[in-house]
Amino acid sequence: MSKITPNYDNYTDIHIHILPGVDDGSKNLDMSLEMLRHAYAEGIRRMVVTPHNKPMHHNVGKEKMQELIHLLRAQMKQEKIEIELYPGNELYYREDLVKCLEEGKASTMADSRYVLLEFQPADRWEYIRDGVNDMLMAGYRPILAHIERYQEVCKDVERVIRLREMGCCIQVNAASVMGRYGMGIKGYVKKLLKQRLVDFIATDAHNATNRTPDMAKCAEYICKKYGAEYMHSLLTENPSKVIRDEYI
Ligand SMILES: [Fe+2]
Repeated sequence: MSKITPNYDNYTDIHIHILPGVDDGSKNLDMSLEMLRHAYAEGIRRMVVTPHNKPMHHNVGKEKMQELIHLLRAQMKQEKIEIELYPGNELYYREDLVKCLEEGKASTMADSRYVLLEFQPADRWEYIRDGVNDMLMAGYRPILAHIERYQEVCKDVERVIRLREMGCCIQVNAASVMGRYGMGIKGYVKKLLKQRLVDFIATDAHNATNRTPDMAKCAEYICKKYGAEYMHSLLTENPSKVIRDEYI
């Protein structure tokens, strides 16, 4: 196994609600900028921005998303915040999701075949498994967002193994790793990390107060507990493969 020296400032966040005024994340440009400053100080250098995309909601269109990304880039240039932004969506799974993607009403991750997929916490295991399979069958590479939230998936680690065997990638939230959602969630995530069943850790940040883009402490913790190599895969290498549309 090759040795990797920990690099504490080269992370990619693949799940963040930082575009202003489009979902329940950042409320305005000031808040987005505060989040970007915070993220930069935490070592984040690239982001796939992932506003919610849900049925019966007003979802931000691709053009508007590009417009907001340009706006944030211009502001960051002035402040010398060097974070590259890529378009994406957190896609709420529904039966016509593939159709929405094909019609351009929803975005993949950085224009790749990867899609960030979310379900309801109480959704049945079979529904989640079949939803993931739907995306795979249509040629997409699903990333299951914050897997630690789905009660029926958490019941049995074998279910996570099954999802990965199918071709699904697994994302957990940095705050869950750090115990912000209780010891139960922390313990579960620990079990997954120990067995190397996680592919990404992301912030899922929503604001600049209580759901901030914190990554530095989590990276340090992962490095200490599971090694620099795994930390590098979770926070840098695997996200880069998403952006380059390569297999993980
Ligand atoms: Fe999210």
